[in-house]
Amino acid sequence: MKKITVAVDGYSSCGKSTVAKALAKQVGYVYVDSGAMYRCVTLYCQQKNLISAEGVVEEVKLKSLLPQIKIEFVNNAETGKADTYLNGENVESEIRSLKVSNHVSIVAAIPFVREALVGMQQAMGKAKGVVMDGRDIGTTVFPDAELKLFMTASAEIRAQRRYLELKEKGQEEPFEAILENVKQRDYLDEHREVSPLRKAEDAIVLDNGELTPEQQNEIVLKLFMEKAED
Ligand code: CDP
Repeated sequence: MKKITVAVDGYSSCGKSTVAKALAKQVGYVYVDSGAMYRCVTLYCQQKNLISAEGVVEEVKLKSLLPQIKIEFVNNAETGKADTYLNGENVESEIRSLKVSNHVSIVAAIPFVREALVGMQQAMGKAKGVVMDGRDIGTTVFPDAELKLFMTASAEIRAQRRYLELKEKGQEEPFEAILENVKQRDYLDEHREVSPLRKAEDAIVLDNGELTPEQQNEIVLKLFMEKAED
């Protein structure tokens, strides 16, 4: 078996992280949630009042403060999962809130933010043996990834999943607000100028609208084995 790079891209809330985490665990790879990094920069903007309620970002200030933003993934012994830390604080739950989701695609469209985070992501995957999920992993971050997946499902199915996920965490929000957020982020992610969300030419499309997590994990593990075999 050779060590490869796995890129998992696709629309918001379509189960990318479920697939990517499960695969990384099964094959002993490092999992990196690139969306969590964009969410951290967004939360930082909100903490420092660098973004207005309408989503206007004070870009000059953000650019000067960007080198001070430290993002880490730290294993949580209790849950067995990695938590996201922003400047030493566990923000795993906060970065998933609708408040952050409502501004993240605006912050993620800023070219200097993307440049900085893409650089960090490439450094994390330098040694291969990594599964990374996001929007531009197969196109921009790791264009040479051996296995590229592009995941999709209808907006309604994705919003329903996110609704249940937030509810389980005690962050219940109206379904309509979540559906609106999913659609708006899809639009912003697909239409931004720098590395818009699109399928890499050599990516395999996985519509998981009708698949259980077990079924999709099985399909992905099979694809991985084919690519990682010497
Ligand atoms: O969890 P969900 O799939 O809804 O989103 P996420 O993966 O946490 O990503 C949040 C947002 O960050 C996306 O809607 C994009 O605007 C941005 N993002 C990006 O631009 N590029 C990436 N590689 C990952 C996320």
